[in-house]
Amino acid sequence: MKSIYLIGFMGSGKTSIAIRLQEKLNLKLQDTDQMIEANYQMEIPTIFAEKGEETFREYESSVLKQTEQEDTIVATGGGIIEREENRLWLQNKRNVFFLETTWEEISQRLIGDQSRPIWNNQSRDKQQLLEQRLPKYQEVATYIIKTDGKSVEQIADQIISKL
Ligand code: S3P
Repeated sequence: MKSIYLIGFMGSGKTSIAIRLQEKLNLKLQDTDQMIEANYQMEIPTIFAEKGEETFREYESSVLKQTEQEDTIVATGGGIIEREENRLWLQNKRNVFFLETTWEEISQRLIGDQSRPIWNNQSRDKQQLLEQRLPKYQEVATYIIKTDGKSVEQIADQIISKL
């Protein structure tokens, strides 16, 4: 089976849904953030702090191309669609699922989150970032799954029904 890519904003549930899909479908699991940390031996907040976002995006584009093309669930970072080269690459994939979550839901889910450098950057308008990214997610998505009010189980089953 062609690999399944999960895309969407921070807090849209990509990681938990990827884990549930992996259990249900018995496929491999890859996470681009974890691949970056393993490949470059540095945690994401440290990469942002010491090397800056542009370097992080280079690393991210590089690991995306290294993901397995068959029998794998790939959870991507929320900004994977920022680079055109990544959008073009994803557009050629069959199973790209955009987990569409509203700002209201995301801002509730990420209250108190300290792990995400962009979320924690007070000088950035995250709601505006979501609005700017929306058309980019839509551009590469094969399927759009609205997640508000749904359980991880329901979303995983909805994804499986499209395969
Ligand atoms: C980012 C999202 C994060 C991570 C990095 C940048 C973004 O991944 O890749 O902090 O630009 O939206 P999650 O979507 O898993 O939080």
